[in-house]
Amino acid sequence: MFTLAHLSDIHLSPMPRAKRRDLLNKRAIGYVNWHRGRKFVHRREVLDLLTRDLHERKPDHIAVTGDLVNLGLPEEFLRAAEWLNHLGSPGEVTAIPGNHDAYVRIHPEAGTLHWRPYMEANADGKALVPTPETQFPFVRRFGDVAVVALSSAIPTMPFIAAGKIGTAQRAALANALETLGREGLFRVVLVHHPPLPGQGWHRGLRDAGKVKHIFKRHGVELVLHGHDHVHMVQELETSSGPGFVIGVPSASEAVAGRAPAARYNEYAIARNGNGWRVEMVGRAVAASPEHVWECERRVLRER
Ligand SMILES: [Fe+2]
Ligand SMILES: [Fe+2]
Repeated sequence: MFTLAHLSDIHLSPMPRAKRRDLLNKRAIGYVNWHRGRKFVHRREVLDLLTRDLHERKPDHIAVTGDLVNLGLPEEFLRAAEWLNHLGSPGEVTAIPGNHDAYVRIHPEAGTLHWRPYMEANADGKALVPTPETQFPFVRRFGDVAVVALSSAIPTMPFIAAGKIGTAQRAALANALETLGREGLFRVVLVHHPPLPGQGWHRGLRDAGKVKHIFKRHGVELVLHGHDHVHMVQELETSSGPGFVIGVPSASEAVAGRAPAARYNEYAIARNGNGWRVEMVGRAVAASPEHVWECERRVLRER
């Protein structure tokens, strides 16, 4: 059996002090928004409660599906790298970027390059599916389970939080799912935006319809995403059987009197005959006194 924990939308706080020259763009609006409201929504204490619980449960692997930072300030990327290190080693944690991690155009050396060890293939994954020039999707393999990590993060205009996978990544995704399916592996796809059509032009995944078509045509067992900060489960009929598309709430969302609570999910994946048994356990932060509890336990599939 393999256990995979999934958390997303860290929106790490507190926000570092911004220099004036760092605010001469889309960040200026975001900076005001953060100090007016978002900093009360995304709280470091809530995130720390969840990660402590996660460490006690010791899953085999942890997936983080983007929005680690808020405005893409150079200092935020460094702090997020420290947070990732605290979460686990690059062998224990896989991360992908979200739209907030591409908030403005920034040189990779000052941005997500700090997270690179968490965003690259492992040797077993690369041996099956070489990483394309786009860096994404990269593949990590852990025995019977293969993780295919996509990037939907693109810089956009203010008030736009949309994402896109693009032609090159989509072709590589189809190839990866096909290859891994032939190997009989359990395929987990990580993507920040929900790969579901109809999410709207300003905050949805622009090529969601095409990505969904790839899932149905080439098969996928589990798709994990964030972005909407809500728990959602969708079942997908694919060429190789049932697939599940599951979104998790933000891992730092404050809980007093409001839903959704900060949460992560843990998946126990085991071979069962010719198929798979998959159980999902939800761990969420409850209000006063704030503590983590098992908010859901559900067998997604028996075979
Ligand atoms: Fe987010
Ligand atoms: Fe997002």
